[in-house]
Amino acid sequence: MNKLIGIIVFCTLVFSVQNSMIESDSATLPKIDAWWGPEDGKANQDTSIRPFKIKFEEEMITDLRYRLKNHRPVTPPLEGSNFTYGFNTNNLENWVNYWADSYNFTAREEFMNQFPHFKTNIQGLDIHFMRIKPEVPEGVEVIPLLISHGWPGSFLEFYKAAPLISEAYEKTGFAVEIIVPSLPGFGFSSGAVRQGLGASEIAVVFRNLMHRIGHKTFYIQGGDWGSVICASLSTLFPDEVLGFHSNFAVSYAIGTWATWFGGFPNKAFQDLIVQPSMANRLFPLATVFLGTVAESGYMHLQATKPDTLGVAFSDSPSGLLAYILQTVSGAIRSTNKNREDGGLYDYFTQDELIDNLMVYWMNNAFTTSIRIYAESLNTRNVNAGVHSIKTTVPYWSLQALNELRYLSPAMLKQKFPNLLNQTILDDGGHFLAWELPEVFSESVLTAITEFKKVQSNRICKVEL
Ligand SMILES: *[C@@H]1O[C@H](CO)[C@@H](O)[C@H](O)[C@H]1NC(C)=O
Ligand SMILES: *[C@@H]1O[C@H](CO)[C@@H](O)[C@H](O)[C@H]1NC(C)=O
Ligand SMILES: *[C@@H]1O[C@H](CO)[C@@H](O)[C@H](O)[C@H]1NC(C)=O
Repeated sequence: MNKLIGIIVFCTLVFSVQNSMIESDSATLPKIDAWWGPEDGKANQDTSIRPFKIKFEEEMITDLRYRLKNHRPVTPPLEGSNFTYGFNTNNLENWVNYWADSYNFTAREEFMNQFPHFKTNIQGLDIHFMRIKPEVPEGVEVIPLLISHGWPGSFLEFYKAAPLISEAYEKTGFAVEIIVPSLPGFGFSSGAVRQGLGASEIAVVFRNLMHRIGHKTFYIQGGDWGSVICASLSTLFPDEVLGFHSNFAVSYAIGTWATWFGGFPNKAFQDLIVQPSMANRLFPLATVFLGTVAESGYMHLQATKPDTLGVAFSDSPSGLLAYILQTVSGAIRSTNKNREDGGLYDYFTQDELIDNLMVYWMNNAFTTSIRIYAESLNTRNVNAGVHSIKTTVPYWSLQALNELRYLSPAMLKQKFPNLLNQTILDDGGHFLAWELPEVFSESVLTAITEFKKVQSNRICKVEL
């Protein structure tokens, strides 16, 4: 019964979103110079780029340890429930004790600082970013790539993949300068003080960041919210974005949904929109939607009442740990919920997962991070119409087997007519760069190689 209500709610949401899209006549584009910080910061905005080092303050560590050690007794899980009711509390003491007693704050701080970090003020927001410049022999072309993470991730997702992408020039012929910002409100980037900073507005912030660094044209890569942001970047700045590689298929264009629903339950039509070998990633529609409804409750809450959740998870590190790690567990593999340890150790060490929690905890950034759901999944954003504008930017879609969503080329082309190709994997999940850095990097480099061909064709045509 709950599931039935879930489906009805989900479908109602989807259809109301689509209806408001149809009603919007023309797009309302986000302002290029919108100000998201305190009003009084405008007059003396510091536009310099400042080197930044991550520092775990002693006071923060002491307080964190105290909270971890003094959480109330957890309620035992129901027999045999594993992760199906949420984080299995049989595991909680292990994680909490590890964080308090064994996590080496000094070593992890050093680990996080292995790449150069910076901050700069964009539109009133202090934006933190990691910038990895490859060391290459003279004459090797270096191209800029902006990589955007999502929730509940961070720049740390790319620590393994970044060097693989950055210095592969002997194989590819070009090197890559990698810029990984923290999303506004996530960790070391400050959050907005007023309403309205959704994915499209963040796209503008990131574009302005690239200009600040000195890149007027650049390539982009995104997963999760990063992919939504990059889709907006491609839509808003088609002459500046040279190519978009995504490991999370997003298209809210009306045609994408129409194609999907049209494929139900007509098998012949299904064959037109998805190749038979991939059909089980899209159909049966009810199974796919049920799966989504069962795992996306967090999304609805975060999209509607983020600040209430924020009170709890900003106050309790054990709560934050359970909430975020359960989301990670489910996003890596939907079947992880049937495992006692949530499958959390398959791809990551405890240190790596706690590093990511630290980014949220030490900056008290939980509330500001989840507001992205409220600011993006609403009718204002949908009515703005950015999602329904097609973009000509060359596009490449990487689709991992266990990703939360699959979209076929026919569906993606409703938004990205210039889809060059896809990388289809028989493995991998939502945090692909973090899970399978080699596979991720290879796909990104293949895509950029193809993007560069498109760009050089364009330049040749202009010169003729
Ligand atoms: C923690 O890491 C630091 C720096 O790597 C190291 O010097 C220290 O011995 C480590 N502490 C423990 C208890 O392992
Ligand atoms: C719960 O996990 C255990 C151990 O991982 C497994 O043997 C069992 O089948 C799981 N239960 C369910 C209902 O999947
Ligand atoms: C797309 O990539 C696949 C391999 O992933 C390759 O077999 C195919 O030829 C490519 N298609 C085009 C049009 O480049």
